Amino acid sequence: MIGQAEVVGGRAHGLSVGDERSSLEPALARGHVLVVEDEEIIRDSLGAVLEEQGYRVSFAENGRVALRWLSAGNLPDLIVLDLRMPVMDGWEFRAVQKDDPKLGCIPVVAISADGSAQAAAISAQAYLRKPLDGNELLKTIKRVLAEAEKQKVTRLDDTERLASLGRLAAGVGHEINNPLAFVMLNLSQALDKLRPSIRSIGEPLGSPLPGDELEEIRARLVGVTDMLEDCQVGGERIRETVSNLQRLARIGDQHRAPVDLHKVIESSLSMVWNQIRHRARLVKLFTQVPLIQGSAAALGQVFLNLLVNAAQAIPEGDAERNEISIGTKVVAGPMGQELVVTISDSGMGMTPETLSHVFEPFFTTKAFGQGTGLGLSISRQTIRDHGGRMMVESTVGQGTVFRVVLPVGESTVVSPETVVELPGEATTLRGRLLVVDDEPLIGRIIQTALKKEHEVCVVQDASEAIARLERGETFDLILCDVVMPDLSGPEFYSTVANRWPDLVPRLVFMTGGAFTPGTVEFMERVQTRVLSKPFKIDRLKRLVRERLRGKN
Ligand SMILES: Nc1ncnc2c1ncn2[C@@H]1O[C@H](COP(=O)(O)OP(=O)(O)OP(=O)(O)O)[C@@H](O)[C@H]1O
Ligand SMILES: [Mg+2]
Repeated sequence: MIGQAEVVGGRAHGLSVGDERSSLEPALARGHVLVVEDEEIIRDSLGAVLEEQGYRVSFAENGRVALRWLSAGNLPDLIVLDLRMPVMDGWEFRAVQKDDPKLGCIPVVAISADGSAQAAAISAQAYLRKPLDGNELLKTIKRVLAEAEKQKVTRLDDTERLASLGRLAAGVGHEINNPLAFVMLNLSQALDKLRPSIRSIGEPLGSPLPGDELEEIRARLVGVTDMLEDCQVGGERIRETVSNLQRLARIGDQHRAPVDLHKVIESSLSMVWNQIRHRARLVKLFTQVPLIQGSAAALGQVFLNLLVNAAQAIPEGDAERNEISIGTKVVAGPMGQELVVTISDSGMGMTPETLSHVFEPFFTTKAFGQGTGLGLSISRQTIRDHGGRMMVESTVGQGTVFRVVLPVGESTVVSPETVVELPGEATTLRGRLLVVDDEPLIGRIIQTALKKEHEVCVVQDASEAIARLERGETFDLILCDVVMPDLSGPEFYSTVANRWPDLVPRLVFMTGGAFTPGTVEFMERVQTRVLSKPFKIDRLKRLVRERLRGKN
């Protein structure tokens, strides 16, 4: 017990600094008060009043005793401080306490019989004149404690905010740095390849270059094109990261209109369907819900991310034993009607540690390149921007449930149906594509253009395509060049028609334009969609989309 000799007791004169009313449970809830007062009578009566109300009380007879007790690691919630005391008075005590980083935040209620301006200016959280009114004292202590609690929460918020800002900055750095390194490396290699070509073209002005030098230049230019394309891919990744961050920051700018949530969910489902179907049964439990005011595009992203996360939490191959369900309902919330969308999966679930970080930007447990960790933080921001909230529950090994709650404003009722669906019923828009072209650049350009919307596999000759089909790989669409050195497009078509006739409607042929009579006849005969080269990327995307939709 510190400074026992210097301390005069509390109510029964038996308490000393550090003593406490351990028998009183409510005391813990009320808080711990240190009374620093030299006059025994006042100490006693203060102690009695406070203990009566359930506070835990410790006492010190002057500032020095109090400081010694505090520096031993005792941290009360509040200090009641007399100003005029022997040895170390209230002002001196306050000066030391205020400057101490650990003690400075303990609020002080100063008491004094002295009504001077100096006394009132002690810069305590409250100042009371003696003789003390018990009720006023209690009220003041309660108010000061409540204010201190509020400040503590704000301080915690600030710390939390700074910490997540740090993580955000580190994440941005990481996400941008990798593709940037890739871009820079490719650019410098491209320049290294270009410079000698320019030199060799520039030197023998007027005289034609020998064939082998021309061939070398051509090869270099092809290399440079490859590198620039890689740069484009890297640049695209940076662009995506930046636009994700912008979304995180300015989601509120998006266009608002009445939104039919079922339509939004359906469209997200169609995009993620290919990932779900090999993993789980899909159950839709839609009830009649009203339109809500919001951005369909932004909300679509939220459901897309939640569904992708759900799919990714379930390994491929046991679709019958796993389930992803998405349901909608309207409930009465504290502020009126609320629309609740529940997305649950029977996947691997999350540990409490993972669960506590899921909404942080750049938090991901996925392998490098598989997830940026921005999905949930952007989603939560989007939902908050719609005046709603997002909750999650998860159990390791059992699965996860995300709930999105959106306020329902004044609106008319739509989306009436209650649907229960199993695999096969969603509209497939995302597809698995096979591109067959002997020119690797074409394959690459198509892959780059379509890989965001579809899974794109590229092979350089038709026999490899056949080998893949033989291995049992399935494709929703096959884009095939017509003129190829080994096995031509028409030959590939005949093989497919013979062995996998169901696949014929999924074939699209790309042709360079100058038809030989044989190829013209082939095109007419198969009457399948033809894409003439060179084609615009938009045209290609549209054709793929139409074909995939037509397939169902
Ligand atoms: N349904 C789920 N089941 C299990 N874990 C989940 C689920 N949803 C989210 N998580 C966990 O939360 C993390 C963060 O999810 P979030 O969607 O923010 O990022 P991501 O999916 O990793 O990457 P991104 O969405 O940017 O591609 C995931 O990496 C995963 O650990
Ligand atoms: Mg995600």
